[in-house]
Amino acid sequence: MRLTDRQREMLAALAAGDKVRVLFVCLGNICRSPAAEGVLSELVREAGTAGRWVIDSAGTGRWHIGQLPDKRMRVHARRRGIELTHHCRQVSVSDFDDFDLIVPMDSQNESDLRQLAPSPEAEARIVPMAAFVDKAMRYDYIPDPYYEGAEGFELVLDLLDSGCRCLREAAGG
Ligand code: 4NP
Repeated sequence: MRLTDRQREMLAALAAGDKVRVLFVCLGNICRSPAAEGVLSELVREAGTAGRWVIDSAGTGRWHIGQLPDKRMRVHARRRGIELTHHCRQVSVSDFDDFDLIVPMDSQNESDLRQLAPSPEAEARIVPMAAFVDKAMRYDYIPDPYYEGAEGFELVLDLLDSGCRCLREAAGG
């Protein structure tokens, strides 16, 4: 993990509390962030801790509002036993009240969220997904698979599996 000291403190506080509310954010909310929502939901279900978690996703863009995730993402996730049923929505300023952790997939999503954050305290809830991913995977962002082939979708799911396992542990399981 590549967390700052402040981020470690925030996660330790979440681990000590009884609820963890996480919002994953990407550009379209049809590939990476709904996949992250599905991967973490499955991991906490397996751990028997789903009741502690509120997990959602949203996009900075508005092109796909109301749609299910991209068919290719759904197919690749289903092969891993994960059903993606989220309906696309756009991130809004009220999400900073409704979630403890806001997790962008890449640096553009991160800077868009920093612009939207209503206060420094709200901005401190933004922690990039790649900060949770095993350093050995050598990615400092989750690459957009939209214009890629099957390997792009598999790479996203591998990175999200690594990151969501670390996130789950860091926030208390
Ligand atoms: P996502 O991928 O941000 O991982 O959901 C994308 C999906 C759609 C578009 C861009 C990225 N788009 O431009 O429509």
